[in-house]
Amino acid sequence: MVVNVERPPAPQAHNRFEVGGVLLDRPFRIRRLGHFGVNVDRIDEGLHFYSDLLGFMISDEINFGARLTDEQRAALGPNASTTGYFTRFGTDHHAFVLFPRKIMGPAENDPITINQITWQVGSLAEVVAGSRFFEDQGIAVRRSGRDTPGSNWHTYPLDPDGHVNELYYGIEQVGWEGYSKPRTMYNRGFRERPPLPQISELDEVDAALSEGVDLESGFRASEKNPRTFDVDGILLARPFKIVRIGPVRIFVDDVQRSRAFYESVLGLSVSQTLTWNGHECVFMRVNTEHHSLALYPAALRERLGLSPHTTLMSFGVQLANYRQLRDAVGFLRERGVQVRELPPELSPGIDYSCLAIDPEGHAVQLYYYMQQLPPPTAPLSAPGAERIDAWPVTVDARPDTFLGEPYLGPWG
Ligand SMILES: [Fe+2]
Repeated sequence: MVVNVERPPAPQAHNRFEVGGVLLDRPFRIRRLGHFGVNVDRIDEGLHFYSDLLGFMISDEINFGARLTDEQRAALGPNASTTGYFTRFGTDHHAFVLFPRKIMGPAENDPITINQITWQVGSLAEVVAGSRFFEDQGIAVRRSGRDTPGSNWHTYPLDPDGHVNELYYGIEQVGWEGYSKPRTMYNRGFRERPPLPQISELDEVDAALSEGVDLESGFRASEKNPRTFDVDGILLARPFKIVRIGPVRIFVDDVQRSRAFYESVLGLSVSQTLTWNGHECVFMRVNTEHHSLALYPAALRERLGLSPHTTLMSFGVQLANYRQLRDAVGFLRERGVQVRELPPELSPGIDYSCLAIDPEGHAVQLYYYMQQLPPPTAPLSAPGAERIDAWPVTVDARPDTFLGEPYLGPWG
C-alpha cells in the first residue's frame, strides 16, 4: 500500500470572492457535513434499523403520496410506502433522512441510492452566492430554495456521477421539548433562490404566534423502546449514543474526476491519498477532521463484497466512546444485524471501526475516534492589526479561517 499525506493547496490569486470580508477561492466555505440520506424500498425495515437499533430519532415525516397522480400511485403498487422520514441525533432537525426509492429514485438498476450529501456553510448569503457560482461554473444544480420540514436554506449541486450534494444554512434546531416546527409554518418555504435579505427565524416565530399557531402542534417523537442501558450514567434504549455523523464514503467511476469536483468546486481539502492493490483512494476534509468524504474506485466494491445496488461504500456514525463502540457490535448482532470488517488500511484516520449492514445492503461505519489534523503554524501577527483605523477592507484567508467549532442553526 502506498500512502501520501497531502498539504493544503496554495491559495489561488485569481477569482477571489469576498466572504464576510475574507477573500476566498469560492463564495462560501463548507464548515461540516450536516446531514445525509438514502433511498430505500422497504421503509419500515429501514426505519427499524436506523431508528430502533441505531437511535436516530424521527423528527418529521413527509408523505409524498399526496403529490402523486392516481396513475403514479397505481404504478407504485399497493404496498409501496410513500412516506419519508427525517431523523436526528442532536438538535439539528435532521442528520439522516430515509426516503422511499420508488418515489425519490433512482430507477431500477441505477446505483445512486444516496439521497443527499449535505454540507453546512456559514450564512444564507453563502448559499445564495454558492448557487450562482455553480451556475457560472456550469455545474448542474437540481434546485435552490428552502425546504420544509427542516427550514434550511439550500442549493443542490450534482457531482460528476450524479450524487446530490447540498449546501445549506440555518437548519431548524429542535429544543429540549422535542417539537419540530408546525406545518402551518411551512408557508416560509421557497422553491427558488431567495432574494436577500430575508427576515429572521425569530420574526417568523413571532408572526406564527400572532396568527395563533400552536408552537407545540409540530411533530414530536418519543422513544418507544425501554430505556434499560446504563450509558455512561444515563439510561438509554441502546448501549451507545451517536455523537457525530460522517465520513461519507462513495464509490465513483473516475476518482480523479470526482476529486477535482470536490476540491475545486466545493472546496474540500485532500488529507491523504492511498493506493490499495492498485486502486487509488482519496480522503477529503472540510474542517479539522481527517476526512468527511472519501472516494473509492467503483471497481473496489465487488472486491470488498459490498452491495452492488448502491454507490455508497459507507455512511459514518461516530459513537461517544470506545466501550460504546464495542457494546454496539454486540447489541446489533444480537438483534440480527450483519456486522463486518474491512481491511483497516482502507480507513485511515480511524482506528477501530466496523460496518453494520442495513436491510437493503447499505453499510453504516461505526467508529469512535477520528484523527484531528493539526492547525497550520503560520504566524498570526497581521500588518496594521494594532490600529483599527488602518484595518484593510478585506483580508486574505488563512488555511483554517472559519474552521473549528461551527455555529449551529439560524442567525436570529
Ligand atoms: Fe437536506
